[in-house]
Amino acid sequence: MMRCFTLLLLLLLLLDTPSSTYSSVLPLCNHHDNSNLLQFKNSFSINPPLYNDWWWSAEMGIYCSSYPKIASWKNGTDCCEWDGVTCDTTSGHVIGLDLSCSMLEGEFHPNSTLFHVTHLQQLNLAFNNFSNSPIYPGIGNLMSLTHLNLSHSSFSSHIPSTISHLSKLLSLHLSYNYELTLDESTWSKLIGNTTNLEELVLDGVDMSSIRETSLSLLMNFSSSLLILSLYETGLHGKFPTRILGFPNLEELTLNDNEELKGELPESNWSSPLTILDLSNTAFSGEIPDSIGHLKSLNQLRLEYCQFDGLNPVSLWNLTQLTHLDLSGNRLHGEIPSLLSNLKHLTYLDLSDNTFSGHIPDVFNNFTKLNFFRLSSNSLGGQLPSSLVDLTQLSYLSLSSNQLIGPIPSKMPHFQN
Ligand SMILES: *[C@@H]1O[C@H](CO)[C@@H](O)[C@H](O)[C@H]1NC(C)=O
Ligand SMILES: *[C@@H]1O[C@H](CO)[C@@H](O)[C@H](O)[C@H]1NC(C)=O
Ligand SMILES: *[C@@H]1O[C@H](CO)[C@@H](O)[C@H](O)[C@H]1NC(C)=O
Ligand SMILES: *[C@@H]1O[C@H](CO)[C@@H](O)[C@H](O)[C@H]1NC(C)=O
Ligand SMILES: *[C@@H]1O[C@H](CO)[C@@H](O)[C@H](O)[C@H]1NC(C)=O
Ligand SMILES: *[C@@H]1O[C@H](CO)[C@@H](O)[C@H](O)[C@H]1NC(C)=O
Ligand SMILES: *[C@@H]1O[C@H](CO)[C@@H](O)[C@H](O)[C@H]1NC(C)=O
Ligand SMILES: *[C@@H]1O[C@H](CO)[C@@H](O)[C@H](O)[C@H]1NC(C)=O
Ligand SMILES: *[C@@H]1O[C@H](CO)[C@@H](O)[C@H](O)[C@H]1NC(C)=O
Repeated sequence: MMRCFTLLLLLLLLLDTPSSTYSSVLPLCNHHDNSNLLQFKNSFSINPPLYNDWWWSAEMGIYCSSYPKIASWKNGTDCCEWDGVTCDTTSGHVIGLDLSCSMLEGEFHPNSTLFHVTHLQQLNLAFNNFSNSPIYPGIGNLMSLTHLNLSHSSFSSHIPSTISHLSKLLSLHLSYNYELTLDESTWSKLIGNTTNLEELVLDGVDMSSIRETSLSLLMNFSSSLLILSLYETGLHGKFPTRILGFPNLEELTLNDNEELKGELPESNWSSPLTILDLSNTAFSGEIPDSIGHLKSLNQLRLEYCQFDGLNPVSLWNLTQLTHLDLSGNRLHGEIPSLLSNLKHLTYLDLSDNTFSGHIPDVFNNFTKLNFFRLSSNSLGGQLPSSLVDLTQLSYLSLSSNQLIGPIPSKMPHFQN
């Protein structure tokens, strides 16, 4: 009996194998999505970028190794099998499209069939060349989108107000395009409707029409926001620095907005913060003692702002720092030997301030320091002998101080 049952089971298994293989090749893809995607494909050509370095964006630290994903898209095949396409496994609707770094070139059509693929939840067209075409209002049809990435793709003109229809967005990246503009009314509607936004990355977008009152609408994201990056956006007025107290904030990047003002908060810092970049802004005031609460901080970039006063002692407690740049401010006082706590530093720039006293002799354990600049301060005394232990150093500048005495003999890369 038992043997008979086993045999039956074996037979069933054998019989079942071909049919399950068969079902996996049945077309799954929704046929509307299939033909909309094919027409979308046919509206572009595949062209390697004109410049070799075009895919490299140093600011983003991204290297995009591109290949033409749409080459695998053929009429008569199942779109759920195509490169870059993700389908809902029950309905067969296309819910994800990742054509980043795909060598697409050509203008978007205002009625692009892509705008009919309305079940899309994730759309990534970053690192292509859409030849300065606008982002058309049709983008607002894609109301299921949670992730939209149109960075570095040569879009231009005004971001359409229909972008505010995308109320489910968690992540919006529109960085490094060609003259994209975000109007104040579109901004207000977007911020008003996308209440769960976690990542907002608009580097290089012209946001200069946005006034202080509309900028402060960002305060409505208090519990969701993880990443806010608004590098070189022409923002001005006072930034709502209470954002630095959002409980989940990991990154705030506001650099190169020369007319953006603000002060660092006295308390209520977001403890998960790893990147704070306010360089080349009009932020001013003192660096508060409470900055020592940022135990996770990796990068503190406050260069060329208007900070003044003494560095708080707590600053030297930020042991996770890898990048510390306070250059070009009006900071003074001594550089304490507590600097020795910051052993993970690869980049240290305190130049162009009025720091005084001696350079502390604490560099024995700085095994990763690559860039080190203390030039244009009021430092005196001799060079510390532990400088010779900076084996990874590729840049050192101590010029324009009142240093005296010999240069340590083993310094390989010394420049004065
Ligand atoms: C795909 O092929 C079918 C049948 O050959 C044709 O009718 C249809 O227009 C084609 N679709 C596209 C987008 O080329
Ligand atoms: C982008 O495409 C346009 C033509 O549509 C071309 O003139 C331009 O050189 C391309 N840019 C790059 C970086 O390849
Ligand atoms: C886009 O579609 C709308 C309505 O279907 C139509 O009125 C308009 O002329 C189309 N635009 C272009 C540029 O084809
Ligand atoms: C946007 O796309 C680029 C290129 O693939 C990628 O490096 C970046 O992380 C993307 N951003 C998001 C939020 O997916
Ligand atoms: C907000 O989102 C909803 C749902 O997507 C949409 O119907 C509505 O028009 C949007 N409101 C604005 C002001 O964009
Ligand atoms: C922001 O939040 C406040 C209070 O929570 C609310 O009154 C206001 O309508 C919100 N603004 C937008 C644009 O959603
Ligand atoms: C810090 O946050 C708490 C709770 O969110 C709030 O009551 C307090 O007023 C804040 N303090 C400052 C100085 O912003
Ligand atoms: C620095 O950290 C140590 C140990 O965590 C702590 O005892 C000390 O109070 C901190 N100092 C400052 C100035 O925050
Ligand atoms: C370097 O590290 C060693 C071992 O952790 C420690 O004993 C020494 O005091 C450190 N030197 C400096 C200058 O911090």
